[in-house]
Amino acid sequence: MISWRKHYKRGLIAIGLLLSTSASIYAQGDAKNGEKLFKANCTACHALDKQLVGPALGGIVDKVKSEQNLDTDWLHKWIKDNKALRASGDKYANEIFEKFNKTEMTAFPNLTDQEIDDILEYTTNPPAPEPAADAAANGADTNSITSIEAQKRESMNSKIILISLMSIGGLLLWLLFKLRQLVKLQQTDELVGLNATRATSFGDIYNKYQNVGKGILVLLGIFAAYGLWNSLMWIGVYKGYKPEQPIYFSHKIHAGENKIDCQLCHSSAKYGKVSEIPSMNVCMNCHRNIAEYNGKYMEPGKDKAFYDGEIQKIYAATGWDPASQQYTGKTQPVEWTRIHNMPDFVYFNHAQHVVAGETAIINSYNKKNPDAKIDVVCKACHGQVDTMNVVQMANDFTMGWCIECHRTTEVDMNNGYNKEYFKNLHEKLKKQYGSGAKITVDAIGGLECGKCHY
Ligand code: HEC
Ligand code: HEC
Ligand code: HEC
Ligand code: HEC
Ligand code: HEC
Ligand code: HEC
Repeated sequence: MISWRKHYKRGLIAIGLLLSTSASIYAQGDAKNGEKLFKANCTACHALDKQLVGPALGGIVDKVKSEQNLDTDWLHKWIKDNKALRASGDKYANEIFEKFNKTEMTAFPNLTDQEIDDILEYTTNPPAPEPAADAAANGADTNSITSIEAQKRESMNSKIILISLMSIGGLLLWLLFKLRQLVKLQQTDELVGLNATRATSFGDIYNKYQNVGKGILVLLGIFAAYGLWNSLMWIGVYKGYKPEQPIYFSHKIHAGENKIDCQLCHSSAKYGKVSEIPSMNVCMNCHRNIAEYNGKYMEPGKDKAFYDGEIQKIYAATGWDPASQQYTGKTQPVEWTRIHNMPDFVYFNHAQHVVAGETAIINSYNKKNPDAKIDVVCKACHGQVDTMNVVQMANDFTMGWCIECHRTTEVDMNNGYNKEYFKNLHEKLKKQYGSGAKITVDAIGGLECGKCHY
């Protein structure tokens, strides 16, 4: 029943899509859709009004027509696969490639003709910028609300810490005072006590000591409680941990607004244990030509001047002089603060999760969170990073968290990797649990201490 409904819904959507595309075939190109496509695929290298990595694309249809006598057919070929076009010996394609120092433009074989027409329509007739009210509404999105809540929670936490520290300080003062009293007492006892009997004096001291002893016990008790409470607290503090970074790099602007793929920057996640922070050269691939921020999105409290200043820091770090378009050779390292960091005795491997576990993790996550589905595997563990201006830990990253997911995630036994790797095991498990049984990560060893600990 449910799956029938799903199909029904899909059918409706398909019909809707068909109708809308067939409608727009007659409308030449849809500039609004073109704008979206342009932002997602081209802004890394092109702007309409100025040269970035590639030439300015405003009015490009007219330009190639009047200057080169080429029509949109040529543009379609170029955008779909400029390399092939160059290889075919096309004169202008090779000319412009030379002119841009043989900088490779990405090929876009996936764009349909209609989509390319939409993009070209956008470069010819860009829609007027949206009114300011919209930008303001954009700024006050839900993301900033949650971050305000997080800030409130953080300030609550620091208040609690402050109060505890103050009470501990108070107790210490009290203890010092008591000790002083004791010392004084002993001194006076010694002076006066020459004639007094030892027994009374001892009893006196014992009584005093007993009080101090009680005080110390109470103090230790409070320390222990504080320690326990603090260790509980730390879980919360790690989750949501977002240190200040040397460059204000916004994932919302890069991965969200500009839809840049996580793995373009964190490319090593696929291949190995760590998913590194990109080097400054990766930034320069784009920022050699993006010297200013002209995006519509503004985080409340930030402005263009702020973002421009942050981009300048990339140039300072790499020694790039934007005026002469050359490297000066003077570089400064950028030291990002690590946010996620497992203790040394834990073995965590990104490739195991991002490659072998990808579909299993996405499917299982979407089943558990029907209201907040994810499309990128990273988000199952790191949260909706593409909505975060500042990355913060989205989970507590404890052993319990790893194990909870291993217990509840059904492994995809048919993906290439597992099919080979677990061939024998799979047969055994089928016998043990029956062929239709669910195999979760714990069944393939995901709860064995040695798999996660050196
Ligand atoms: C990785 C950078 C990059 C991306 C992404 C990119 N381009 Fe380019 N594009 C270039 C470069 C560089 C050139 C100049 C020619 C060369 O060096 O190949 C160029 C040239 C062009 C030209 C020829 C311009 C002229 O003056 O004749 C067109 C048209 C074009 N790109 C369209 C697009 C479109 C549309 C997209 C997005 C779907 C896009 N490009 C994405 C880098 C890029
Ligand atoms: C344009 C490059 C770029 C893209 C695209 C990008 N990141 Fe990042 N990422 C960075 C940089 C730079 C840092 C270090 C600064 C920081 O923590 O914000 C970082 C930090 C992180 C961290 C924290 C690392 C730590 O210190 O523990 C996580 C997690 C992360 N990125 C996940 C993602 C995910 C998920 C995506 C896709 C939704 C993504 N990134 C897309 C550049 C990028
Ligand atoms: C794939 C292209 C690409 C890469 C790689 C890239 N950026 Fe950006 N960056 C952009 C775009 C696009 C914008 C937004 C420009 C606009 O809207 O006018 C931007 C904006 C920025 C801004 C201003 C907004 C903000 O996030 O604070 C900073 C700072 C910045 N980038 C830093 C970096 C750093 C540091 C790296 C390397 C770790 C990097 N970028 C890598 C494309 C890229
Ligand atoms: C199964 C959960 C999980 C998934 C899926 C996942 N990560 Fe991680 N990520 C972690 C853990 C755990 C760490 C801490 C690793 C450590 O400290 O050794 C981490 C650390 C990082 C770091 C900091 C550098 C490092 O390697 O320690 C970056 C950057 C990062 N992840 C990006 C990504 C990106 C991008 C993706 C998607 C391609 C992704 N992660 C998918 C759990 C995950
Ligand atoms: C979002 C769910 C999820 C989380 C969280 C998670 N894992 Fe996994 N893990 C998986 C899946 C799924 C696999 C199986 C991948 C496959 O198909 O081979 C896996 C496999 C593994 C394996 C290989 C097991 C084997 O027998 O080959 C290790 C080791 C591992 N994870 C360690 C960790 C550690 C350490 C953490 C916590 C820091 C963690 N995982 C958190 C989903 C998760
Ligand atoms: C799926 C991965 C995984 C498995 C399986 C696993 N651990 Fe852990 N373990 C972790 C992670 C991750 C941490 C670090 C947690 C943290 O830093 O908060 C940890 C921490 C620990 C600690 C330190 C305690 C602490 O609070 O820091 C001990 C002890 C430990 N594990 C023992 C074991 C034993 C014994 C087993 C087998 C029964 C086991 N672990 C199985 C992932 C795992």
